[in-house]
Amino acid sequence: MKNYIINDFLLFEEFCNLKCLYCGGFDKESNNFRAIKNKLYAPSHWHEVVRGNKLSEGIIGSETTLDDLIEIADKILDKTEKNFAYSILKLSGGEIFLSDNIVKFIKKRHKKYQAMQLLTNGVNLKEEQIREISELGNVYFQISLDGITPEANRARFGNELLLKKVLKNIKLISELKMGLEINCVLTKFNTGDLKKFVEYFSKIPGVVIFPRPVRGNPKNELYPDKEQIENFDFLLENHEQYRAVLPPYKYLERVRSILREELRSWNCYVPYFVMSENNYGKISKCTCGTFSGDVADISSAAVSELRMAIKKNGYSHNQRYSTCADCISQYEIFNLLVEGDISGDDVKNIPTFQINGVINSIDKIREDIF
Ligand SMILES: C[S@@+](CC[C@H](N)C(=O)[O-])C[C@H]1O[C@@H](n2cnc3c(N)ncnc32)[C@H](O)[C@@H]1O
Ligand code: SF4
Ligand code: SF4
Repeated sequence: MKNYIINDFLLFEEFCNLKCLYCGGFDKESNNFRAIKNKLYAPSHWHEVVRGNKLSEGIIGSETTLDDLIEIADKILDKTEKNFAYSILKLSGGEIFLSDNIVKFIKKRHKKYQAMQLLTNGVNLKEEQIREISELGNVYFQISLDGITPEANRARFGNELLLKKVLKNIKLISELKMGLEINCVLTKFNTGDLKKFVEYFSKIPGVVIFPRPVRGNPKNELYPDKEQIENFDFLLENHEQYRAVLPPYKYLERVRSILREELRSWNCYVPYFVMSENNYGKISKCTCGTFSGDVADISSAAVSELRMAIKKNGYSHNQRYSTCADCISQYEIFNLLVEGDISGDDVKNIPTFQINGVINSIDKIREDIF
């Protein structure tokens, strides 16, 4: 019996090779967090917290390295697997491809899950790594990209060379038939011209684009204007033509509603389907960060049913939390499936929902919730 569909594991959370304008974790202060090759530079309080964690015992030497964090993650996941069952281990960050040794880690763990999903900005990803990972057979990608021009990606990198590299990687992933979800953040730089984006990827098989509005404080600088928001309708009006490369119509309707109203006004069941763990062994209420709060510590709690822990800690799917007001992501598909707004047939183009047993497990978890 699966307790969850996905474990969304945050590796190297504070470390990244980009500084996207909308990324909450990378404010001015985070200039202090840097990974140079394997070595990690961070404020002393960060080093103290990591060293103070029981899970680090016997791993961290005189310096803290990316390899150390990978070893800690391995230890955490061994413990996690004793208490939880889930179909997909998702690795997110920070940026997981800061370390070349991530591939070794993926190879070591992938057989324990139905599938592994890798979220990356795609910049450090190398052709030989993609080929090596594709051989594993049950690993697929999620790449963040806001368009196919430097202008559309101005909140991410705006550098044509980096963009070309990411597009080349995506092409190879498609050729190797690995399945790819593209995370696209809607900002003033791309919302007005999504046509080019969908047209380009409609010619690349196995890719689905998940747009979501920029959320949190970065909205102040980056939110699309009224006219750009009206342009988003292009995706709804042409959904039939581009359905292979787009999520279901109902998902896009919800994105449009948040773009227009800046207010989410429906239930969210995501914390019942997606558990969220980090490199410190903490499990939080929700992976999406806006509704955060630790509910368990994998090293001390034998939590056999995290959903109960989440409910006891005050999460309710029909509350309208202010912290959830502008949140929508690819995980919204769980909400649409739970409430019967879409069916398994509507999500056949989305790699996560093609994985054997996922739709059945969603049905079982739904019975458990109500
Ligand atoms: C924090 S990143 C970590 C993974 C990896 N570095 C990447 O960019 O794919 C996770 C996702 O959140 C998105 N994101 C970051 N800041 C956001 C914001 N303010 N609003 C909406 N999505 C955001 C990113 O584009 C990315 O798809
Ligand atoms: S690449 Fe990902 S983690 Fe890095 S700054 Fe951009 S959104 Fe944040
Ligand atoms: S709306 Fe977003 S932050 Fe709130 S519970 Fe759902 S997924 Fe989490």
